[in-house]
Amino acid sequence: MKFQLRAAKAIIGRDVIDLLGGEVKRFGKRVLVVTGKNVSKTEFFKRALEGLSDIDYEVWRGVKPEPDVNVIEEGVEFAKNFNPDVFAAVGGGSVIDAAKLINLCLNGGELFDYVPPPIGKGIVAQELKPLVAVPTTFGTGSETTCAAVVKIPELGIKAGIVQECLLPKLAIVDGGIELPKHIAASAGMDALMHAIEAYTCKSFDEVETYFYSGSNPISDALAEKAIELIVKNFVPSINGDDNARMNMAIASHIAGIAFGNAGVHIPHAASHAIGGLSNAPHGVCVASVAPAVLEFISDCPKVKRISEIFGCKASEGVLRIMHEVGIPTLSKLGIGRDDIGTLVENTKKLKRLLVLSPKPVGDEELRLIFEKSLSY
Ligand SMILES: [Fe+2]
Repeated sequence: MKFQLRAAKAIIGRDVIDLLGGEVKRFGKRVLVVTGKNVSKTEFFKRALEGLSDIDYEVWRGVKPEPDVNVIEEGVEFAKNFNPDVFAAVGGGSVIDAAKLINLCLNGGELFDYVPPPIGKGIVAQELKPLVAVPTTFGTGSETTCAAVVKIPELGIKAGIVQECLLPKLAIVDGGIELPKHIAASAGMDALMHAIEAYTCKSFDEVETYFYSGSNPISDALAEKAIELIVKNFVPSINGDDNARMNMAIASHIAGIAFGNAGVHIPHAASHAIGGLSNAPHGVCVASVAPAVLEFISDCPKVKRISEIFGCKASEGVLRIMHEVGIPTLSKLGIGRDDIGTLVENTKKLKRLLVLSPKPVGDEELRLIFEKSLSY
């Protein structure tokens, strides 16, 4: 019976992006900056590069949203040619995850070697090159977790690779960034569900997984605070409130530490299956089953605490926020009753997350959760 606390060192605030250059130089002399096309055109990205002007750096702009195995392979080729000694990822969760996986593959072998069984070989790598992560969306918490997600198109599923070596050496969280509303909305839902799932997952003394510890007093304190901040700041942040936006950046980071240690359960397991069938962003996929899952576990004491924070039933609170920030429900993602069988089968492949559910969950329970989710 034990739990661990893993978190990246972090610098959090407004305008902290200007510190990137000085911080990166502490880790190496050849920097590969990983980003996506849209981020690379922003003023924020230009500021990120300014600090690197006196060292060797190269930019790879090839990360696409919800990247698949092919995107990672392209990045690995680019990285092999440049041969960096440090990585800087500037972008959303997809970018940070891609940088983690490119760095992992530079260790040798191919991506499938590191994907957990039964899909891959589940090889665990040791020390990788240092990664400095700069999130430009506030949801995945990837800047402070050991996890990275990749789409596997042939299998119609997303796979999560979770290894200690994927933890960034440093996170630079600049809450001054203003995002398009739909991106902030999807990311915020992801953060909210990280906190809710970390809080409600099985306790560390009831479960042992290959990586996550289960909920524990530290992750509980973090998750509860993150839920409070998100409930209070999510809608105002979407409506242009600067302070609320900063608080969402902080909350997303806190939620990242909480779930990066405790774990996540049914909504994230289901989101990997939904993300395999739909191109909807990760946060939308997670949210699409969230109210039904909260109904399913509504008799757990921690869900009652979440309801207190919302000031209404937790499931209704999540639905209300989804509505207010413009997040579609499952039926709007082009998913119908005919897909439920596939969704159940693919969700079950995420057994490593489902074991953390506070209530046992099998075929029948998953089917009911998807049916209920289609009814909203
Ligand atoms: Fe997530």
